[in-house]
Amino acid sequence: MAMTGVLRPGHVAIRVLDLEEGINHYKNVLGLIETGRDKQGRVYFKTWDERDHNSVIIREADQAGIDFFAFKVADKATLDKLDADLNAYGVKTERIPAGEMLETGERVRFEIPSGHQIELYADKTDVGNGMAYVNPDPWTQDAERGIAPIRLDHCLLYGPDIEKVQDIFVNVLGFYLVEHVVLEDGETDLGIWLSCSTKAHDIAFVRHPEPGKLHHISFLLDSWEKVLRAADIMSMNKVSIDIGPTRHGITRGTTIYAFDPSGNRFETFCGGYQSYPDWKPIKWTWDEVGAGIFYHDRALNERFLSVVS
Ligand SMILES: [Fe+2]
Repeated sequence: MAMTGVLRPGHVAIRVLDLEEGINHYKNVLGLIETGRDKQGRVYFKTWDERDHNSVIIREADQAGIDFFAFKVADKATLDKLDADLNAYGVKTERIPAGEMLETGERVRFEIPSGHQIELYADKTDVGNGMAYVNPDPWTQDAERGIAPIRLDHCLLYGPDIEKVQDIFVNVLGFYLVEHVVLEDGETDLGIWLSCSTKAHDIAFVRHPEPGKLHHISFLLDSWEKVLRAADIMSMNKVSIDIGPTRHGITRGTTIYAFDPSGNRFETFCGGYQSYPDWKPIKWTWDEVGAGIFYHDRALNERFLSVVS
């Protein structure tokens, strides 16, 4: 598909209870590269293979959770158009000036009906992935430290009114529905998996009474072997593992869920299939939701539905 409009997840801002503990986790256990600190006390990271300056930003706060999740758009004209389209749809937006976040251009921020802050931006400094743009090597030594994911891949957010959220993402931002899980009534969605690309999901939502909650942020690995290696590294570092290694029925990814020291869930996964916007969405029925979420256990663990930050 042509890559226009919204390109991909760009950054996530996460609250941690203890900054030093958070830095140690994201840098040494997850294996991200620290790229800067700002006057507000925020610490910026990127994965080894990402080229833009930052994708994960943490700050210390009294409560864990997510501040905002952002998507990079094709260019400034796209940013202005999507801002106008959101306003015309009835979504209020706010412009955050360039430079408020390190090495990041102007951002358009808005709240969606699930209570989450979403951002769009067009510019972020290309700091490269440590390899040349001419005749590059395939990887660098940074690809070996900690879990070392390839990229920030997607997030799953919990909140109310996910039909309204879907309408905004599909009809204003150009995403499409890839998979969904319906409740016992056979009609109401429990969860929706949305893509702006050929990935099986760039963002997902699960219906939840409390607004603005984070279920997990997810990082891509390039093999099942790397997923097992990630589990080893988690255990070596006494990381609290939620579930896995296992496989999702939904999106087919092989996965581990675990928690950062503040209780923010994160996923390290590989695989899943390539999707296209003309494909019919896949439906999971309530009686098979266990297999949809955890394909091997074929049962939901209670934590999946109830523990969020
Ligand atoms: Fe995920």
